[in-house]
Amino acid sequence: MNVSTDAEPVTIIAIGAGNRTNKYLEYAARHPERLKLAGVVEINEIRRRTTAERFGLEPERCFTDYDSFFANPLPADAVLIATPENEHFEPCMKAIEAGYDVLLEKPIAQTLSECCRIEEAARRKGVIVGVCHVLRYHPYFIRIKEIVDSGELGEIISISHLVAVGLDRTTHGFVRGMWRREEITNPMLISKCCHDIDFLLWLTEARCRKLSSFGSLRWFRAENAPAQSAARCIDCPIEKQCPYSAVDLYYNRRDWISNFDIPAGATLEEVILRELRSGDYGRCVFRCDNDVVDHQIVSMEMDNDVTISFSMDAFTLGDQRETHIRLTHGEIDGDERTLRVRKFRGGEERVYDFSGLLEKPFHAGADLLLIEDFVDTLSRREHRFRTAIANSVESHRICFEAERSRLTGQTVTLEER
Ligand SMILES: NC(=O)c1ccc[n+]([C@@H]2O[C@H](COP(=O)([O-])OP(=O)(O)OC[C@H]3O[C@@H](n4cnc5c(N)ncnc54)[C@H](O)[C@@H]3O)[C@@H](O)[C@H]2O)c1
Repeated sequence: MNVSTDAEPVTIIAIGAGNRTNKYLEYAARHPERLKLAGVVEINEIRRRTTAERFGLEPERCFTDYDSFFANPLPADAVLIATPENEHFEPCMKAIEAGYDVLLEKPIAQTLSECCRIEEAARRKGVIVGVCHVLRYHPYFIRIKEIVDSGELGEIISISHLVAVGLDRTTHGFVRGMWRREEITNPMLISKCCHDIDFLLWLTEARCRKLSSFGSLRWFRAENAPAQSAARCIDCPIEKQCPYSAVDLYYNRRDWISNFDIPAGATLEEVILRELRSGDYGRCVFRCDNDVVDHQIVSMEMDNDVTISFSMDAFTLGDQRETHIRLTHGEIDGDERTLRVRKFRGGEERVYDFSGLLEKPFHAGADLLLIEDFVDTLSRREHRFRTAIANSVESHRICFEAERSRLTGQTVTLEER
């Protein structure tokens, strides 16, 4: 539904106005001449109202559900879909059918078949579906790609890539929060690591031909609850010794609270205390209804004989990605803070310092570069979005197949698509 001209801003409808949408809309706030919010669809009243006020949307541009929006769609160039993962497929298919270009948060959908159907529908309709794989816009990951592509270290032989999820992120998101159950979102490998598999495919420019995976929900289960523990951290006699305490995370440290809405007239303190007493985020980690894994490994063999050893660990203090790339003429080791490049013969060791980027908002600016790339793609049709759906389905296929391997204990061979 191309409605803007080169001189006008690209217009976008946001479906879901939570954490991710706010990141992308920051670009509209900074560059109103390039991107304009034309409407919002959000079930949460506070978030709908806040977004409408921030961008001056009239009531007729605000919707509580996407069915009513698609019944009478507003003119706009694109739709941004940043709802939870069980609410990606349906609005995305409706947006494609209505002729909008789409910016879709990852993961694409909840099954491989749904991912392929979105890809096919976009192709049939001739619309762009971009997937928000932000690592391809992140300066640290781009530098790794540039070094590998330069050929100075020869060819890749093997890669070892670790996602240290971090205990706080894990207990908040994958035990108490939105990503705790596969049926609501996806298996953890897909929710958390489709980014990483996408990065590894981008880096190696190869196809995965075989994989196997292992992992389980080992620790955050009822049988591991300490005998004296209580159902809620706020009532728990051993809370002060517990590394998973919600009181410590949200109340003492005021961490991971950005998704706690503060209703008019309430204070943050009251909201946190209410959550600790009665909300999902106040629950003991051993007494939640979570079912996603807390550790998983995947071994991959690529069609250029590169081997990849991938690991996702929840039990880490830090929250970072570590990559070790062994090439024919040297090696690259990085942990998002530093990137060390060493040649086997000749040349000085080079160390790039990325620590300054760690605290930078918007994934070190990558979120804003991603939305800018999408706006560029819509403004100039010859510009190609870096992470279009066609580039993204394969990484999802690997994640879904790894899940199959984990559950069946079988090595999976992937045919060429
Ligand atoms: N690219 C990344 O780096 C990255 C990072 C985090 C999350 N994500 C993905 O972004 C998506 C959104 O995550 P988030 O962190 O913004 O979550 P969020 O909970 O902050 O925001 C989602 C919003 O969608 C709203 N919503 C739910 N169902 C809806 C419906 N049917 N219609 C309209 N609105 C609805 C919720 O009320 C909420 O405000 C998820 O798919 C998540 O996996 C991507």
